Amino acid sequence: MAQRYDVIVIGAGPAGYIAAIRAAQLGFKVACVEKWRNPDGKMALGGTCLNVGCIPSKALLASSEQFENASRHLHEHGIVAKGVAVDVAKMVARKDAIVQKMAKGIEFLFRKNKIDWLKGHGRFAGSADGFHRIEVSDGGEVDLNEARNVILATGSKARHLEGVTVDNALVCDNEGALAFDSVPKRLGVIGAGVIGLELGSVWRRLGSQVTILEAMPEFLAACDESVSKACWTIFTEQGLDIRMGVAIGRIKPAKKGVAVEYKDADGKAHKLAFDRLIVSVGRVPNTDDLGLEKVGLSIDARGFIEVDDLCRTGVPGIFAIGDVVRGPMLAHKGEDEGVMVAELIAGQKPHIDYNTIPWVIYTAPEIAWVGKTEGQLKAEKRAYRAGQFPFAVNGRALGTGETDGFVKMLVDSQTDEILGVHIVASSASDLVTEAVVAMEFKASAEDIARVCHPHPSLSEVVREAALATAKRALNM
Ligand code: FAD
Ligand code: NAI
Repeated sequence: MAQRYDVIVIGAGPAGYIAAIRAAQLGFKVACVEKWRNPDGKMALGGTCLNVGCIPSKALLASSEQFENASRHLHEHGIVAKGVAVDVAKMVARKDAIVQKMAKGIEFLFRKNKIDWLKGHGRFAGSADGFHRIEVSDGGEVDLNEARNVILATGSKARHLEGVTVDNALVCDNEGALAFDSVPKRLGVIGAGVIGLELGSVWRRLGSQVTILEAMPEFLAACDESVSKACWTIFTEQGLDIRMGVAIGRIKPAKKGVAVEYKDADGKAHKLAFDRLIVSVGRVPNTDDLGLEKVGLSIDARGFIEVDDLCRTGVPGIFAIGDVVRGPMLAHKGEDEGVMVAELIAGQKPHIDYNTIPWVIYTAPEIAWVGKTEGQLKAEKRAYRAGQFPFAVNGRALGTGETDGFVKMLVDSQTDEILGVHIVASSASDLVTEAVVAMEFKASAEDIARVCHPHPSLSEVVREAALATAKRALNM
């Protein structure tokens, strides 16, 4: 006899586990299927984000930034620090401890909300009488479950290059790149996207000579042009050797490490040798062996499960959220979709404004933005005004020594409504939230300009950028 639930979620990454919790809060009987196994053989909740994504990468970014500050910048504050050294094993162990603590936290939340964790691989076995059947297996017996509502939250995995074996020792995707046992002298990175820049920065700060090879001719093409230009200068001055417009050729083991052949933008052939290589060329949705055909579901040309704005598939009672569906592959986007779908199942009327989902790249300085870029507004032929203000003249930034960057605000010329905010700053990830809230409330630049901001604080630069859209910045 199959175990019967109101809601079964497949996948316990940020999209799935949040959907499960919200559904349980709304009074449903909920199960969540998860098969993740860490290298130590233990099963874990949390998905890519917690185990090999957002959380471990941010832990290593923080540790490596501490090292860089201690070894290069403390003297600016009149502090003498000698003999600063890196203990990679301890740094990686600290990261692992944070991950384990958070994974236990999700297990606690599941117990608290009476959510059953069905351990193993979940797949559809068909539908009958308004129930969708889900088989769960972990190598042994198959456990049968059914629910009126199923939420697919199976996430994504690293895209690999054809003919290049990722062994996560010499040639790594994100999983191996977060667990190096030593600092490679020469590190190669393929792809100057989010992972390439974040993990490239981690290992550069710890002493690697980092070369990033990127296929596209434009650096950070998704960002506002002022941001990409400023960050190109900042990152290359920090020591990242970024080569744009390359065509990657053969990648093969060398005497020591790995050899990468590529052609530059002018077609000239090059060969580089690295001690380790990170391949970070995007991610692909996880839809393997889900039994989609058993319930009449299919995937689109790019491999995503097709959904509408409310994450409904074409089959009643089946929803899909997070990285396995269209939209940015971001943890907070998946979480919001999880909440939305649970509330939809409960008969509520939730919605997500995809235009106000913020982006953050956790380099130093960080890059964060929400809404439209200047390039997008021009393409839409929308009349806009721009205001930009630098951190270099902000008292708090001078005090902390983090003066790189600016806030740029784009507003509608007629209504003054905020259309986009682009930030390069040491704590851009936190500063951008003010812009997100403002845009959710359809605020104008004048609204931000009239709000009292604490002094001295980095947030004053957000207000100055708002004032600058009307050419009335006060401190410049
Ligand atoms: P996932 O987190 O991928 O979880 C899916 C889960 O489903 C997995 O646990 C998987 O085991 C399970 N699963 C799949 N198929 C089945 C099945 N058939 N049966 C049972 N279980 C199954 N995003 C940010 O917003 N901020 C960041 O700072 C950030 N940093 C990142 C850093 C790195 C290195 C990487 C790789 C990604 C990062 N991301 C970040 C992206 C973020 O990790 C993803 O957007 C997020 O994890 C997607 O959540 P999800 O729940 O859709 O999928
Ligand atoms: P990405 O899409 O950000 O960047 C991949 C880069 O690789 C692109 O610039 C692309 O042009 C390049 N590329 C593709 N094929 C190539 C080839 N053959 N040769 C050279 N370059 C090539 O993908 P990335 O960095 O792998 O990250 C995956 C996703 O994970 C991100 O898009 C993002 O959604 C998520 N993520 C989010 C983070 C955050 O929010 N801070 C951090 C890390 C990942």
